[in-house]
Amino acid sequence: MSKGVDEIFRRAKEGQPLFVERNALSPEYVPDRLPFRDEQAGAVAEVLAPVLHDSKPSNLLLYGKTGTGKTAVARYVISRLRKEAEIKQLATAYVNTRLANTEYRTLALFADALGLPQEKRIPFTGLAIGEVMDRIFEHIRLTEARVVLVLDEIDYLVKTFGDETLYKFTRSNERLSPGFVALVGISNDLKFKEGLDPRVLSSLSEEEIVFPPYTVDELREILTARAKTAFRPGVASPAAINLCAAIAGSEHGDARRAIDLLRIAGEVAEREGLREIDDTCIRRASDKMEHDRVEEALRSLPIQNKAILLAVSKFKSGTNTGELYLAYANICRRIGIEALTQRRVSGILAELDLLGLIEASVVSKGRRGRTKKIQLLIGSEALQKTLLEDAALASLE
Ligand SMILES: Nc1ncnc2c1ncn2[C@@H]1O[C@H](COP(=O)(O)OP(=O)(O)O)[C@@H](O)[C@H]1O
Ligand SMILES: [Mg+2]
Repeated sequence: MSKGVDEIFRRAKEGQPLFVERNALSPEYVPDRLPFRDEQAGAVAEVLAPVLHDSKPSNLLLYGKTGTGKTAVARYVISRLRKEAEIKQLATAYVNTRLANTEYRTLALFADALGLPQEKRIPFTGLAIGEVMDRIFEHIRLTEARVVLVLDEIDYLVKTFGDETLYKFTRSNERLSPGFVALVGISNDLKFKEGLDPRVLSSLSEEEIVFPPYTVDELREILTARAKTAFRPGVASPAAINLCAAIAGSEHGDARRAIDLLRIAGEVAEREGLREIDDTCIRRASDKMEHDRVEEALRSLPIQNKAILLAVSKFKSGTNTGELYLAYANICRRIGIEALTQRRVSGILAELDLLGLIEASVVSKGRRGRTKKIQLLIGSEALQKTLLEDAALASLE
């Protein structure tokens, strides 16, 4: 621990708080204006507008990389729709399938939003998926509900559980009339469509709207508006906002990353007792986010990938495929899992390279053919510490 508790509290008491509304930089905050998304918001509204005349709108798919405003736009348009609609049977529901985590929970949250009667409530667990769906559709049919359902991060649902449930959804409408369910799917994964059953795809993507990444200039303007609400005047200078926009825009224009960066930089400045956010705060915030991102990536790796990475981390100055394979096989033996073939290991090395965790480059050995030179790109100590948290690997300690 670098600072004593008393010291931290003393500074907090002395320093002026920098935030006036921290919430404005939180991930859940929906601003009342979404600059640079008029076109997309208008297109969503266009598709959903038939609801106002009590007819079923087309299903709709929203696409784009993370932080391009898909969730914000969907929530915004839905809230406007609720305000305008005079149809008493209108029900809107928003479920993020990744946060819901399972198909069952996704449906249960949807049922909650619809307000199924007490005796039809979906229990926390225990019913078959088919039964859950029957209850939901029965309720919609009986109440003649006009439903707009937003399924956010729908790519997670499909990747993890397949598209059977979506298929049933898209087929359900025939027997609901005059009620209906219009689906708004949101996907961060641009390749998500490739894996879908063609019938599901054609139904789900009756309409499609693409969200491009933000430019650095756009990020700057978004941040400026947020900073005005979040901080006391003078805390986030134009130079500080520029730097956050530039860092967040360097991969793809991700507004979430930009906003997180500004918030964390503000927290760093506050902790340091500064009056404004300087470059150092932003660099430290950026390092912290990068560190968290790597840890998160490491934790979610499959066990084989972890074992391979651990093997790589044993070689301080890089290694080659043959040497690495022996070290990896040794780890497998010690933790009692089957070692994969050389070929599969090569495939996983390529994945780890894509994630930016290692660098695997082909080098020629002259007449003896080619090999791969493999090098860890992150600190081996931190890597080992994180990986050994996995109970399956803990015995290696
Ligand atoms: N045009 C915009 N104006 C203001 N804030 C925005 C805009 N687009 C996105 N944001 C904010 O950036 C963050 C990420 O946006 P989000 O809609 O969650 O992205 P996505 O769903 O595409 O990953 C949210 O905090 C959101 O409020
Ligand atoms: Mg989103």
